[in-house]
Amino acid sequence: MNPTESPRLTVIGTGYLGATHAICMAVLGFEVLGVDVDQRKVDRLASGEVPFFEPGLPELLTKALESGRLRFTTSFEEAGEFGDVHFLCVGTPQQPGSDAADLTYVEAAVRALAPNLTRRALVVGKSTVPVGTAKRITGVIHDLAPAGEEVELAWNPEFLREGFAVDDTMRPDRLVFGVASDWALERLEAAFKPILDLGTPVVRTDLATAELVKVAANSFLATKISYINAMAEVCEAVGADIKHLADSLALDDRIGGKFLKPGLGFGGGCLPKDIRAFAHRAEELGVGQAVSFLREVDDINRRRRARTVDLVREMLGGISGKRIAAWGAAFKPNSDDIRDAPALDVARTMHGLGGHVRVFDPAALDNARRAFPELRYGDSALDVAQDADVVVLLTEWSDFKEIEPDALAQVVRHKRIVDGRHALDAAKWRSAGWEYRALGRS
Ligand code: UDX
Repeated sequence: MNPTESPRLTVIGTGYLGATHAICMAVLGFEVLGVDVDQRKVDRLASGEVPFFEPGLPELLTKALESGRLRFTTSFEEAGEFGDVHFLCVGTPQQPGSDAADLTYVEAAVRALAPNLTRRALVVGKSTVPVGTAKRITGVIHDLAPAGEEVELAWNPEFLREGFAVDDTMRPDRLVFGVASDWALERLEAAFKPILDLGTPVVRTDLATAELVKVAANSFLATKISYINAMAEVCEAVGADIKHLADSLALDDRIGGKFLKPGLGFGGGCLPKDIRAFAHRAEELGVGQAVSFLREVDDINRRRRARTVDLVREMLGGISGKRIAAWGAAFKPNSDDIRDAPALDVARTMHGLGGHVRVFDPAALDNARRAFPELRYGDSALDVAQDADVVVLLTEWSDFKEIEPDALAQVVRHKRIVDGRHALDAAKWRSAGWEYRALGRS
């Protein structure tokens, strides 16, 4: 096949990243086969159901299925026969009991796919992996694929954010192509043609650099968040105001305001595990000292959760027996993802200290209920605030930001609010008679 011809794509792993990638690529005009070992996931997607919360994606899945260009299967044999370019999109969670990334799914996907690669093809890694993984996988593919060295591996890290996954996939700010040959580059260019036609910048590089770009980017973002949260700790010690400090730094173009929002800190399925896996990998490589600051970034982030509980305790004079409304469960708004969610961490700690905690989240309630059945849940923000001694805002959903102080005052027992995300207008709440507290503000 001519490397510039439109390739047929497979997407191995139909979780958050894979499902989004498969759906968007089909909408962009490619023939796509989504592959997963989980029959239930495949069935749900094939019937038009997106198994997670992501704005805009269900509509695109319907469109892609109707076009006839998107199908799903559990058969790697079918994948090998169908695909010219195979995207690896399986998860790399943190290993239990270690900071290292768990590569079981990557390994399994490669070992299942490779024996079915009987002609020249490109395998493209999109999963976030420790640097050096691509080199090792190349050897496995060459050993197991009937087409041998005709099969090449490239790395194309994915930067999509939950809640903006469609936009980040269709209109990314950059594409990074880690390749070992011009042929691989041409294949990738063909596989991303509609996106390249938008003028999207491309960085061509080697496999190791492409693997590193992703963890370097997430480490930088995590560091920026922990930096401003470290400043919040200093502000608290001297009665200064982190909000004004952050606003002032943000006006410096060189610093910028993005990811400089102080508060409860970062969580989710990427930032926490990626910085830990990166530090772990750097130590293995003998350059642990170069990124040892990431351990501090992680510690600052964890302290934010403990400090939020302290703030509630200070306000109430103790947590045991108090009625606490916890607003938010997802790790960030516009998501139902509760992986390493700061909100649920805080809610569980307060529950463990004897607080009568009731949680509400606009999208993540089902996931939270399943993971933490010991917590109590309610039907709305006002419902959980009924007779509350304090309301604690933990995830900055706009539903919470829109609630008026007077409306909330009608249902609570005491007008006390802890704003864990600097999401509310402090002056407005105070002038409505509320005791308002936020991390890093006097
Ligand atoms: C992140 C990266 O942004 C994305 O590029 C990568 O592909 C996957 O990891 P995501 O996990 O979806 O994406 O969330 P993101 O929007 O980056 O937020 C991460 C966490 O940081 C959230 O818990 C958020 O609440 C927190 N955050 C973000 C802050 O605490 N302050 C900020 O200023 C920004």
